Amino acid sequence: MHVLVTGGAGYIGSHTCVELLSRSDRVTILDNLSNSSLEAIRRVEELGGGRVNFHKVDILDRTGLEDVFEQNIDTPFDAVIHFAGKKAVGESVEKPLLYYHNNITGTINLVEVMEQYGVRNLIFSSSATVYGEPASLPISEECSTSACTNPYGWTKLMIEQILTDMQFARPEWNVLLLRYFNPVGAHKSGRIGEDPNGIPNNLMPYITQVAIGRLKQLSVFGDDYDTPDGSGVRDFIHVVDLALGHVAALKKFTDNPGCYVCNLGTGKGYSVLDMVKTFSEACGREISYKIAPRRAGDIASCYADPGKAARELGWQAQYNLRDMCEDSWRWQQQNPEGYGKQD
Ligand code: NAD
Ligand code: UD1
Repeated sequence: MHVLVTGGAGYIGSHTCVELLSRSDRVTILDNLSNSSLEAIRRVEELGGGRVNFHKVDILDRTGLEDVFEQNIDTPFDAVIHFAGKKAVGESVEKPLLYYHNNITGTINLVEVMEQYGVRNLIFSSSATVYGEPASLPISEECSTSACTNPYGWTKLMIEQILTDMQFARPEWNVLLLRYFNPVGAHKSGRIGEDPNGIPNNLMPYITQVAIGRLKQLSVFGDDYDTPDGSGVRDFIHVVDLALGHVAALKKFTDNPGCYVCNLGTGKGYSVLDMVKTFSEACGREISYKIAPRRAGDIASCYADPGKAARELGWQAQYNLRDMCEDSWRWQQQNPEGYGKQD
């Protein structure tokens, strides 16, 4: 299979490309490297044991996109996995137009060029954020999607709608909307992992940077939620499990065309304090933390009903919280500055 991976140099994309290469798929990455580095691609090749065909292109650049499809006309793409997008929630509140333009216009460009070249199998990276404050737990795909609390979340919900409408109008298309819960962890080798810019917003990279001494103390946002220990509960999923979910999803394209939505989560909820404790055990260091006020826009609990992915994709998560912590720690320890100082 020849797979075009947009955003393939990024956190989830790089792990997915390793799994694709490992099963001898042909992999082409298209990325503008706005939130990633060439070093990640070099390491993907090392881990996957194969070469990647890389194009430094922006999905907003229509001509650049067409060139990539044109250059691959003799070995056309069988499917596209579309990870490219901006994902920082806080930044999306400050720069909404940047987010709407990059994520939505970029996706429309991509889909138009795919149609132009007759490539009609698409996997899109959506997020559990589309469920907003869930009406019930665990969250199944039937749960209503609701008001998002930030422009980033809205881009995901709007793109889901755009792709659903597009597939309805063009029934020969195969569209898979994958809603990720909270991806954490890193490849077992410690060679690739999450490399956030600046001070991390998300829990796991914040904890790893406290553990390595780059940050002083974690703020636990709220201990008065209606959860077992009062801190927020999330469905943390190992990034390698997530990557394998995409590999499983590609097989779906041999079935009937349609527009499908599927959760990728473990089905288990762990609290922020569970995570601090497990990480501390995994790295053998105390994680300094203080209880801070709730963060605006946060919900108490969020975890998946992963049944549909098991039934329809034949996929379920394998790694536990301890694995996620050990692997994140190995990546952080081996790369204290991320990829930054290695190019
Ligand atoms: P990431 O930032 O590490 O990877 C995204 C990649 O897309 C980066 O390499 C970046 O350079 C590239 N990119 C961004 N805009 C681009 C553009 N205009 N043209 C070309 N390349 C562009 O993020 P990630 O964590 O790997 O997330 C991948 C996808 O999954 C994103 O769409 C994200 O919104 C979605 N997602 C992520 C999470 C998460 O917690 N990481 C959760 C749910 C959904
Ligand atoms: C966030 C985004 C979501 C996005 C997802 C993955 C918000 C409101 N939601 O999800 O849209 O899809 O990241 O990128 O930003 N926490 C702390 N201290 C910290 C950081 C986090 O206590 O320094 C807590 C949070 O309050 C939350 C949990 O850890 O309870 C997980 O937070 P985070 O990793 O940011 O993910 P989400 O908020 O679930």
